[in-house]
Amino acid sequence: MTVTIVGAQLGDEGKGGVVDLYGDRVDVVARYQGGDNAGHTVVHGGEEYKLSLVPSGAVRGKIGVLGNGCVVNPATLFEEIDALRERGLEPDVRVAERAHVILPYHRVLDGIEEEAKSDSNQKVGTTGRGIGPTYEDKAGRRGIRVGDLLDPDVLRERLEYVVPQKRALAEDVFGVKTGEEFDIASLYEQYRRFGERLAEEGMPVNAGDFLTDAMADGRTVMVEGAQGTTIDIDHGNYPYVTSSNPTAGGAATGTGLSPGVIGDGEVIGIVKAYLTRVGSGPLPTELGGVAGDTPGYDEQGEGENEELAEYIREEGGEYGTVTGRPRRVGWLDVPMLRHATRVSGFTGLAINHIDVLAGLESVNVGHAYELDGETIETTPTTTERWADCEPVLREFDGWPETDWEAVANEGYDAIPANARAYLEYVSDELGVPIYAVGVGPGREQTVVVESPFE
Ligand code: IMP
Repeated sequence: MTVTIVGAQLGDEGKGGVVDLYGDRVDVVARYQGGDNAGHTVVHGGEEYKLSLVPSGAVRGKIGVLGNGCVVNPATLFEEIDALRERGLEPDVRVAERAHVILPYHRVLDGIEEEAKSDSNQKVGTTGRGIGPTYEDKAGRRGIRVGDLLDPDVLRERLEYVVPQKRALAEDVFGVKTGEEFDIASLYEQYRRFGERLAEEGMPVNAGDFLTDAMADGRTVMVEGAQGTTIDIDHGNYPYVTSSNPTAGGAATGTGLSPGVIGDGEVIGIVKAYLTRVGSGPLPTELGGVAGDTPGYDEQGEGENEELAEYIREEGGEYGTVTGRPRRVGWLDVPMLRHATRVSGFTGLAINHIDVLAGLESVNVGHAYELDGETIETTPTTTERWADCEPVLREFDGWPETDWEAVANEGYDAIPANARAYLEYVSDELGVPIYAVGVGPGREQTVVVESPFE
């Protein structure tokens, strides 16, 4: 049986912590999409690990697999592996031969395109890691895959085809002078060596076969999504999205396990008790605003409730793991969660960060939206319509600051009653049981209600 972890909102819901929480029961953790745009913070044995590409289970001695749906920057991969080794860990990471490789020109083009969009409201606010341009090349059938790094002749042939196009795009279309990132000989040398190291370390695999064999041997596989539903390329608020499918369908296409296998298992939706967003795009329940990211911020200045946003941002440490950017903050958006639940078919929920909201007199949620005088309960299909939505707020009594460590030890009933009312409302609205409640950043600071393995 597989357990799939999916972000129900905009990323940064605390997925790494949940993977880590259930990780003891797992032998293999596989990622199915994204690349080093993801940021996982894992606290283990009092140590904090910040990872962007290596699956978080690797910190706990599990086999980590980067599935074919991922885009892999080998430089980041080896940097993270080396850093973990320096801290005394022995990460075992396998990489799908079918996964696409992020090359230096992808990162440059990511930046160029964002710059070109910056005068309009089309800027996505990407992490600048070259994610979009790499997936573009994958869909355009001109990408370079991990398997190609293992065969120098194929690598050279592919580079010779694609690099001049990229150079022309940068120089002739965008008028940007290019450097080493667009030089075939230097790319060839560098990436051939990455291929050698991948092979020496026995990392390349056929992900679908590897995972299927692991399951046949009785091993437990966890499938770990990065980012979240609202930035899914198909189901998110296009174009303010990442270029992959963080929703549960991606778990099948991005690993090579069949939809039947994924659907037979558990799909756990990870929810943050409020909302954060990195980058631009609408956020109907937003509190305050972040310059450069919140649409209209520069003209209108900060929105309402700036102080409250600042308070939640500080309490929750809401700064990007990868970029360090302040995250935009809002109340929980329930229409977004209804949409996420339908798309991914959650069988359980993990709701994180209820401790961050402690001490507030009242806590609101966006229960529905008002759009053109009508009340709607799920997100509209276009981003422009979504931006027109006014949240219909529902107010909950706040809960006090609490000894969360004690709550984690004592269990669900020790959670303050008002916080339980809040959690139960979310569970009832979505028709999905709560499996875990995060009451602090560490894996120990989680109330486990149910294990997906029992
Ligand atoms: P990209 O994935 O770098 O192309 O960025 C596309 C959008 O997804 C931007 O709005 C990013 O801020 C957002 N994004 C990408 N990765 C993450 C993540 O791990 N957490 C939250 N937002 C992310």
